[in-house]
Parts: sequence; structure tokens; C-alpha cells
Amino acid sequence: MEIAIVGTGYVGLVSGTCLADIGHQVYCVDIDQEKINKLKKGIIPIFEPGLEQLVKHNQAAGRLHFDISLKRVLPKVKAVFIAVGTPSAPDGRADLQYVYAVANEIAANITDYKVIVDKSTVPVGTAQEVEKIIRQKYQGDFDVVSCPEFLREGSAIADFAQPDRVVIGARTKRAADLMLEIFQPLKGEKFVTSVPSAEMIKYASNAFLATKISFINEISQICHKTGADVEEVAYGVGLDSRIGPKFLKAGIGWGGSCFPKDVKALDQIAGDNGYDFRLLKSVIEVNQNQRRHFVARVKNSLGDLAGKKLAVLGLAFKAKTDDIRESAAIDIIKILLAEGALINAFDYEATANARKVLGDSVKYHTDPYTALKGAEAVLLVTEWPQFKALDWDKIKNLIKQPLVFDGRNLLDRSKMKEIGYHYCSIGQEDIRQK
Ligand code: UGA
Repeated sequence: MEIAIVGTGYVGLVSGTCLADIGHQVYCVDIDQEKINKLKKGIIPIFEPGLEQLVKHNQAAGRLHFDISLKRVLPKVKAVFIAVGTPSAPDGRADLQYVYAVANEIAANITDYKVIVDKSTVPVGTAQEVEKIIRQKYQGDFDVVSCPEFLREGSAIADFAQPDRVVIGARTKRAADLMLEIFQPLKGEKFVTSVPSAEMIKYASNAFLATKISFINEISQICHKTGADVEEVAYGVGLDSRIGPKFLKAGIGWGGSCFPKDVKALDQIAGDNGYDFRLLKSVIEVNQNQRRHFVARVKNSLGDLAGKKLAVLGLAFKAKTDDIRESAAIDIIKILLAEGALINAFDYEATANARKVLGDSVKYHTDPYTALKGAEAVLLVTEWPQFKALDWDKIKNLIKQPLVFDGRNLLDRSKMKEIGYHYCSIGQEDIRQK
């Protein structure tokens, strides 16, 4: 089927490429001329494992096209996916100006039946608003559908190819059937529901996952004080099939471009509808505390941080991405800088993005070992698996004292103990050498 995807950000580019890969003719549209020029040459603006090859493969197969004009693309397609950004407005609400701008452009150029698909995460009621905007200028037949995205950065292609579910919120059978045809090649349940329910499923899913993480982070605080081990607790709890093992990894709190934005937006949606979502407010608060507790532990060990050299391993909000939006690593660095610490940082992909927000306040390294040299403590804040494989014997001789704060419980505790580190992880007893 011929499909347009408007917005070549993370969601748009990944879903457009993957839709082309399952056989559709996809036209990715973006108003950023430079980005489109680069994409035409196979240059990808984001780091996502496997994406570059998949873009090139589908371009070469003639299924994936890039354009700056929705007006030009519109007559060729049956469905238009809106995948533009919905950033947080200062009050936490989703800022929908880009979604509505696309709706206006569709309204000005639509001439026959199309299905307009809200792919961006948008509050309940947005599809109705999009419909209203188009209806003002076009009296013909069309449908607006909600089809939220559940991809995770770092594993987006696999998430697209093997989805747990595809949620389709549609008002008419015609629109639902067209959507089912688009996603027919994928396994996983296709759940057709009402438009508002589909819009809510997305927020409820992200808010629930964030709650699950904040919950285990709260448990980690008590584990740390009582001698229980949060890793073992999470494992034991996750064995209950009603709970499940996923998203029970304690750490320094969730970040990224989605959870923080969507959790705040859902709290706003609740408030706008006269309901105080108290649980969600606590979920956000716990998440902030988790970062502060981590820094407090560093301060407890080192005392005044002014002038102390700290090595920070990781800048991205999680492994396998260059994304630093709402990254706990960046928040922690900002607190440490405010305390006067000298930061030497290393990340496998996110340094360029981190530099844009932290500037020269941090010393960036292209090699983890040089970042670690002479440090008074090592703070591991992004769970890149490569950090586990570093030569921790060698590192012990590079750093000033063998003190490691593992904010992701990534390293092997017993190995760290054996080498002779003071090892402080999340929700576990500190290992202190005599
Ligand atoms: C999240 C959702 O998982 C996707 O389903 C959704 O499509 C996406 O948001 C979105 O709305 O676009 P993503 O932000 O890529 O995906 O990242 P996650 O893998 O969910 O991780 C989010 C944060 O939670 C990261 O900071 C991660 O380090 C943290 N996390 C995750 C934990 O601290 N513990 C865990 O057990 C899992």
C-alpha cells in the first residue's frame, strides 16, 4: 500500500522504514530540507542499531522515498501517518502545534478518501480535533485513526517486527480494515478499539511501565537499608506471571524522550478532567529522588566534592542509543557540577549530544580508560554492556582510589569484590574493603 509518514524523527523514520520493509511504498516527509537531502543519501540523523542498513536496503528496493512536500506526496497515498513531535509544554501538557500544522496541510490538499493516522503520542481527543481541522476545509470522506507506537529506542526494529500488539483506534470499519491490511504481515494481536481508548492505551502503558520502575526503585531503597538484595527481590517477584520480570531493573530512574513527557502529560490530562492522579505524582517524585539519593551516596563517601575528579561512564538515557533527553546521567552530572566536582565523561554514542547541553563544563573522552585516569570515584550511569567487559583489574591501577558507584547494577559484584573495589550499587549492601 502507498503510505505517507509525516515527520522523520525517531518514530517516523523507524516506522516508515519498517513499513517499507514489510512491502509498502512509503513516502517519508519532513519540512527539514537538509535532513531529507541527507536521508536521500542514506545518512541517518539518529543512532539506532540496524536502521541505516534497513533504510539503504529499502531505498535500493524502491520502496522508501523521502520528500519535503506533503502536497506532492498526498495524491499518491491511501494513508497518512502523523509522526511529528509532541514535546512537553512548560506546564507538562503535550504541545500539539506540529500535529495540528500537519492536519491543516492535509486539509488544504486532500481530494479523496484517506486514512489519517495519529502515530505520535497525543492526548485523548486529539484525533477528534484533527478531524475537525480537516473537516473545516474538506467535506469529502476521510477517517482519523489512532495507532500508537510502542517501539523502544535501541531495539526499535525488532520491536516493530515482533510487536506484542498493534492497537488500532478507529471509528469506521473501512478505516479499521485498511489499518489491518497495512499491519497484516506482522504477527502479534491486532486490537481494534475506539479512538479515545487507543489514545489512552499509549499513555497508560508508558505510565504503568514508569510506575513499575519507580516501584522497584522504592523497594531498592528499603533493600539497601535492610540487607535485602534488590536484584534477587526483583527476580523473585518477577517469577509471578501476574507481575512478570520486565521493567523491574532498579537504577537511577527512568529518562528518555517518552516516559517523562508522557507521565507528565497523563497527570495533566487527569487534572484537566477533574481527577487528581496522586499515584502518578509520586511516580515522578520517586524518579527524581532516585537521582538525588545516588549523588548523596557519592557525597557520603567523598565528602565535599569541590575540585574532586570523578569519572562518569555513560551519558545516554539508556544503552544502545545516542539520546540524552531527560537522561538521568545528565541530571546527575549537573548536580555534581553544581557541587564543584570535575567531571570526566565517556559514552559510546551520546557524547556529541551531551556536549550540546553540557558544553565545556565536562571533559569528554573518546576512550573509557583515559576518562578513568586519576579519578577519585567511578560513577557508572548508563548500562552499556561494554562497560562490564572493561578491564577492571587495569582500571584499579588507573584510578586514585578503588571506589565504584554502579547506578545500573551492571558490574559483577563478586568480581569487583575480588579485585578489591569498594563497590556501591543500587538496592544492595555496599562492598567495603578492609
Ligand atoms: C518507551 C517504551 O518502553 C516504549 O514502549 C514506547 O514506545 C516509547 O517509550 C515511546 O513512548 O516512544 P524508550 O523510551 O525507548 O521506550 O525506553 P525504555 O527502554 O522503555 O526505557 C525508558 C527508561 O527506563 C530508560 O531510562 C531506562 O534506563 C529505564 N528503565 C527501563 C529502568 O530504569 N529499568 C527498567 O527495568 C527498564
